[in-house]
Amino acid sequence: MRDFIQALPKIELHLHIEGTLEPGLLFELAQRNNVSIPFKSEAEVRAAYEFNDLQSFLDIYYQGANVLLHEQDFFDLTWAYLLRCRQDNVIHTEIFFDPQTHTERGIAFDTVIAGINRALVQAEAELQITSRLILCFLRHLDEATAFATLELAQPHRDKIVAVGLDSSEKGNPPEKFQRVFARALEAGFLTVAHAGEEGPASYISDSLSLLKVSRIDHGVRCVEDPALVQQLIAERIPLTVCPLSNIKLCVFASMAQHNIVELLRRGLCVTINSDDPAYFGGYMTDNFLAVAAAHAMTPQEIAQFTFNAIDASFTGEHEKQRLRTRVNDALQPPSGK
Ligand code: HPA
Ligand code: ZN
Repeated sequence: MRDFIQALPKIELHLHIEGTLEPGLLFELAQRNNVSIPFKSEAEVRAAYEFNDLQSFLDIYYQGANVLLHEQDFFDLTWAYLLRCRQDNVIHTEIFFDPQTHTERGIAFDTVIAGINRALVQAEAELQITSRLILCFLRHLDEATAFATLELAQPHRDKIVAVGLDSSEKGNPPEKFQRVFARALEAGFLTVAHAGEEGPASYISDSLSLLKVSRIDHGVRCVEDPALVQQLIAERIPLTVCPLSNIKLCVFASMAQHNIVELLRRGLCVTINSDDPAYFGGYMTDNFLAVAAAHAMTPQEIAQFTFNAIDASFTGEHEKQRLRTRVNDALQPPSGK
């Protein structure tokens, strides 16, 4: 099963690029940019990665991002993640970035996107990894700041496929950003939102009805509303689930109690993703392995996560067909004759 999972081509749809900052690169950038960090060693950093909820993680995650100052830093961060993708057989990835984490510190929006985009273009040419970029608004900040961020994104419309919503979910409901999302949709962006990670199932329904999202990030608390589950099945609304993240942030007490396999078997379009792999102890292959270790599944069921992700991706139909062909080829290697 380990070999099957390793070899399976994967599609990632829920990945925060700032969440791929490994302790090694954190130290390297802190030195290069002369930024002081409250850790003496990489081991000390890793020891700090014990979280009891979303907020305890976010506090450390925003602190880590302080070492990112220059275009080259954003390139190095993104390139390191893309090399990890190659190792895990991730052939297409849709990446979140949090511009407000950087613009609030005086880093230009254009610096952030230039570094990330340069790495994505190079990865398509050199690693054959395709990608899309999704701008996330920080939901703990106000509507006016989100509107200002959307304006900064307009000249980069060609590089950004969608807008999303992340950061502290509880107390920051979807309706807070209804008008911003309406403007983003008018401008031609698709929309997604984190919902039902820590927040209630109603945040999922409201993201669908008020923010017109094409998919839900996390969404595991949908099971608290049976009518919503029926809607997700009937309308085939994708959930980008992040198993290791959910355990690290105590959304579920253990992987055995995680509902992702139950959701898959009930016919929901669920996918497996890594969220913030540098902080949660694993990239894509690790997430697949962790789910498979706790829940017996057939190879077809495991591969279904990838087929769901292709359906849910923001690439064009032609591209989706190319991805499906690559997965099918990997599942049925041509006979040796
Ligand atoms: N939830 C909310 N905000 C985030 C997350 C998450 O899992 N990761 C990075 N920002
Ligand atoms: Zn996330």
